[in-house]
Amino acid sequence: MTFADSLESRSHEAGASSRHPRIVQGGMGTGVSSWFLANVVARHGQLGVVSGTVIDGIVARRLQDGDPGGHMRRALASFPFPDVAARVVRRYYVPDGIGEGVPYRRIPTWSLHADPALVELTVCANYAEVWLAREGHSGLVGINYLEKIQTPHLASLYGAMLAGVDYVIMGAGIPVQIPGVLNQLAQGLPASMRVHVEQSEPSDDFRVTFDPCAITGGRRLDIRRPFFVPIISSATLGEMLISKSSGVVDGFVVEGPTAGGHNAPPRGKMVLNDKGEPVYGPRDRMDFDRMRSLGLPFWVAGSYGSPEKLKEALELGAVGVQVGTAFALCSESGLDEGLRQRLIELALEDRFEVLTDPLASASGFPFKVAQIEGTLSDREVYESRERVCDMGYLRRPYKKPDGSIGYRCFAEPLASYLAKGGMIEDTVGRKCLCNALLANIGLGQVRKDGSRELPLVTLGDDASFVKRILTGGRTSYSAVEVIAYLLGQSVDEVRAVGEASIRQG
Ligand SMILES: Cc1cc2nc3c(=O)[nH]c(=O)nc-3n(C[C@H](O)[C@H](O)[C@H](O)COP(=O)(O)O)c2cc1C
Repeated sequence: MTFADSLESRSHEAGASSRHPRIVQGGMGTGVSSWFLANVVARHGQLGVVSGTVIDGIVARRLQDGDPGGHMRRALASFPFPDVAARVVRRYYVPDGIGEGVPYRRIPTWSLHADPALVELTVCANYAEVWLAREGHSGLVGINYLEKIQTPHLASLYGAMLAGVDYVIMGAGIPVQIPGVLNQLAQGLPASMRVHVEQSEPSDDFRVTFDPCAITGGRRLDIRRPFFVPIISSATLGEMLISKSSGVVDGFVVEGPTAGGHNAPPRGKMVLNDKGEPVYGPRDRMDFDRMRSLGLPFWVAGSYGSPEKLKEALELGAVGVQVGTAFALCSESGLDEGLRQRLIELALEDRFEVLTDPLASASGFPFKVAQIEGTLSDREVYESRERVCDMGYLRRPYKKPDGSIGYRCFAEPLASYLAKGGMIEDTVGRKCLCNALLANIGLGQVRKDGSRELPLVTLGDDASFVKRILTGGRTSYSAVEVIAYLLGQSVDEVRAVGEASIRQG
C-alpha cells in the first residue's frame, strides 16, 4: 500500500467515525484554548483542542514572563532538535520575568519570506502547545487555525505534527490547500502554499514555502498525518472542499452564526438589524440531509453546548458537537481570571450580552463581541485607543505597482494604511484583535505611557449553561463539569475515564 493509499483508507475505514470523540472542545484563539484546558479535556475522553493562532507570540511572551511553572521549557526540552529549541529559549526566556510595566520584546512579523528565527519560534511554539496538551495521558488532541492567517501555516503545522497532533481543525476561510500540505509534511517533504495577495493578477503565483529539513538538520522524517477537519457553514462548501482539496478531508465541523469567535457572513446581501448586527435568514440554515450525504463524520457547533443539543446533533447524524463558550468560561480556560468571573456574574444575573460586530475584525468576517464595560466593546474605550500595528497577524499582503509585496491591516494607523493605497472606508470600526486578544489572556502589551492594551472578549450567544452548571451558589466550574453536563453523566463517571487515560498514557 502506498503512503497516499494508507491515508485514503484511514479516513474511510468502516467504523472510523465511531472512534471520534463526541465532544470537541472548540479551538479558541488566542490562547483561550490553552494546552492546560486541552490536556484536561483530552484526558477525560473528549477531543482537547489547542489554538495555534498567534501561538508563536504567546509562547515568546510566556517565556519573557519567566515561564511560570517551567512548562514551556519542559516542552521545549523534549523538542527532537535541541539546537533549534535552545535558540528559541535563548532569544525569549527571561529568568524571573521582564517585570511589571516592561513592554514585551517584539517578535518579527509574518510575511511571505519570514525571518528564519520566526520560523523556528513558530515550529517550536506549536510543538510545545500540542506536546503539553498530550502530556501524561492517552487521549486525543487537535489544533485549530484560522485559514485566513496564511503565512505561518506551514511552520505551524509542522510543529504541531512533530508533537503528534491527532486533528487539525481549520475555519475562517476555504482551506483546500491544507490536506496536500499535511501529506507533504508527513513525509518530511517541502511544502508550499499559494497565498492570497490583493491586487495581484490571476497569473501571479505568490507562495509560502517550508522545508522540514531546515528544522531537522537535513533528515527526512516520516511523521503521522493528522485528521483534517475544516469548519464550514454550508454543505455546499463541504462538497467543494471534498472535490477541490489537494488531499483527503476527514470530516467537518458545521458551525452556525451563534458560535463564539468569527462567523461566516450571511448569504446574499448583508442586512443589519437595529443593533448593527448581520441578519441571518433561512438560506443560512444548515442542510443536514446534504451534510449526511457527504458521507464524512461531522460535529455541529454554535449553541450546541447542552445535553439536549448534543442529543439533537446525534439525531441529525453528527458524531457530536463542538463547544466553545462553555469551555471558555471554565476554570482551566486561558481567559483572564477577572474577565471570566465578570462574564460568569453577568450570566448569573441575566446581563450577559454578545453582539455580532460585522466590522471589528480586520479578517473581514463578522466577529462576536461580549459586551463588558471597560473593554474595547465599549465605544469610548475603543475610540480612546491610539492605533498601533505591531503584531501584524491580520495584515493582508498586497501587490504594489512595482510588483513587490506590501502588507496592510484595516486596523493599523490610518495614515500608514492610506499611504499603502488602502481606502478609508475599510478602516471604520476596526479593532486591533492581535493586541486585544492577547490582553484577554493576560499577555497584553505595555505601551510607552505605561498603559496596557485592553481586552476585547469573544463568546457565543448562548450562556444558558452557566446557571445550569453552577447550582448551589457556586461561581466557578471545571472542564470536567462541562463534559459531565454535556454527556448527562456524573462528575465521578467522567473522572473515572480520566484516571484510566492517565494509566494508559
Ligand atoms: C473565546 C472564543 C474564541 C474562539 N476562537 C476561535 C478560533 O480561533 N478559531 C475557530 O475556528 N473558532 C473559534 N471559536 C469558535 C469555537 O471553536 C466553537 O466553534 C464555538 O465556540 C462553538 O459555539 P459556542 O460558542 O456556542 O459553544 C471561538 C469561540 C470562543 C468562545
